[in-house]
Amino acid sequence: MSSTFVFLGGAVLALLLAGYFGQKYMPPPKPKIIGIDLGTTYSCVGVYHAVTGVIDVLEVEDRHRCIPSVVAFSDDGIVVGYKAVAQAEHNHQNTLYDAKRFIGKKFDAAELAETQKQYAFKLEADEHGMIRYVVTVNKTERRVTPEEVGSVIVGTLRSAAERNLTVPVKKVVMSVPAEFDDAQRNYTKKAASIAGLEVLRVINEPTAAALAYGLHKKTGLQNVLVVDLGGGTLDVSLLNVQGGMFLTQAMAGNNHLGGQDFNQRLLKHMTGLVKERFGQPLTDKADTQALRLQVEEAKLNLTHHLETHISLNLHSLGGKLLRESISRSLFEDLNYDLFKKALQPIDKVLQATELSRDEVDEIVLVGGSTRIPKVRELIRDYFGKKPNTAIDPELAVVSGVSIQAGIIGGMWPLTVSAVELPTRVRKIHVH
Ligand SMILES: *[C@@H]1O[C@H](CO)[C@@H](O)[C@H](O)[C@H]1NC(C)=O
Ligand SMILES: *[C@@H]1O[C@H](CO)[C@@H](O)[C@H](O)[C@H]1NC(C)=O
Ligand SMILES: *[C@@H]1O[C@H](CO)[C@@H](O)[C@H](O)[C@H]1NC(C)=O
Ligand SMILES: *[C@@H]1O[C@H](CO)[C@@H](O)[C@H](O)[C@H]1NC(C)=O
Repeated sequence: MSSTFVFLGGAVLALLLAGYFGQKYMPPPKPKIIGIDLGTTYSCVGVYHAVTGVIDVLEVEDRHRCIPSVVAFSDDGIVVGYKAVAQAEHNHQNTLYDAKRFIGKKFDAAELAETQKQYAFKLEADEHGMIRYVVTVNKTERRVTPEEVGSVIVGTLRSAAERNLTVPVKKVVMSVPAEFDDAQRNYTKKAASIAGLEVLRVINEPTAAALAYGLHKKTGLQNVLVVDLGGGTLDVSLLNVQGGMFLTQAMAGNNHLGGQDFNQRLLKHMTGLVKERFGQPLTDKADTQALRLQVEEAKLNLTHHLETHISLNLHSLGGKLLRESISRSLFEDLNYDLFKKALQPIDKVLQATELSRDEVDEIVLVGGSTRIPKVRELIRDYFGKKPNTAIDPELAVVSGVSIQAGIIGGMWPLTVSAVELPTRVRKIHVH
């Protein structure tokens, strides 16, 4: 009798030890579920690695991790990302972007006409008012839905993940803007299913950003404010987070405020200088485009330096050299009113939730434009506390969906849960 016990005990011990050593010395299981941030301007894919807890945002194209959400159709075939951007100049009408603005959304004739003005590609509405792109390839017209454009991007991200993991990938967690309704969420899932992926869950982008900072693990009720300032839009959300549950309490935003507006101010300053210095306005398209690129670069540079410069030969003005140093404080002066405007939606969500500034426990910054030191400073001063900035603001959402993918996949040591509660709050628009 007792010898049986000893035998069993030994077997159990052996199993336990095998498990222990296995965990320690065997390669950890490969991620089976990927996380995708299908963004308006950029899209990225990430995975969560069991045991180490490392989140990898994967390289997709030529050492770039995130790729532009652009798909181009041509007689040679379909290209995506940076390749699509590179050929855009020669193929405007068939270079498609902003699919996220159209996906799962109905447009009436007036909205469609107004929207069409902003784009070089052709749009039309089907009998239900759903938008389709119209491209002409191989001399024939072809209709392309926003979810098909999305599927080409998702397919590219999926292939990148399969290359990296060296296993087939069939499952995904995706993020969408908090304001997306059921139809927009459904069509986003459709984009993934066309690309051969099963969508296990769709989570809100602000929730993903909060997950990236591990805010689901904090005890007690947390009021988390997520500020997402990108190239063209600002979105602010207030979330309640408790015990791994997320509830969106309020949303506000400005659809016409972002990095492009800040560039525009500096560009205007520079074209003013050209007129003043050379007595002629800058009207040449190629020179203006070259200046626009330098302006963008100068803006990025001023995030890390107090001064940078712009230097450019203006071909349309007989090759005259435009050289000017640009200080961070000049850039801030040119944009001060716009930076201040970014605080308006924050006011709105606090009013809507009847919270005071000091009741906000955590502030999370998302989107490239939140790198601008003055933007950070204004937000910090508004709340009297430092926002979370440790994660690259352009990778916070993809990092969060990757963590959610890891949680759903039961990837040790992610034993916590993270669940979003449905909400009916509506976004408040600020202009
Ligand atoms: C146009 O035709 C060529 C030759 O058949 C083909 O390789 C290419 O993929 C087509 N383009 C598109 C966008 O389908
Ligand atoms: C996968 O991606 C990670 C993170 O970028 C990188 O370190 C690793 O070398 C990649 N592996 C392969 C096989 O490409
Ligand atoms: C979204 O998809 C679900 C499940 O497939 C379906 O029940 C629902 O009616 C769809 N909603 C819309 C608005 O398309
Ligand atoms: C940014 O500005 C600094 C200082 O002027 C300079 O050393 C650096 O090369 C610039 N970087 C870029 C990317 O323009």
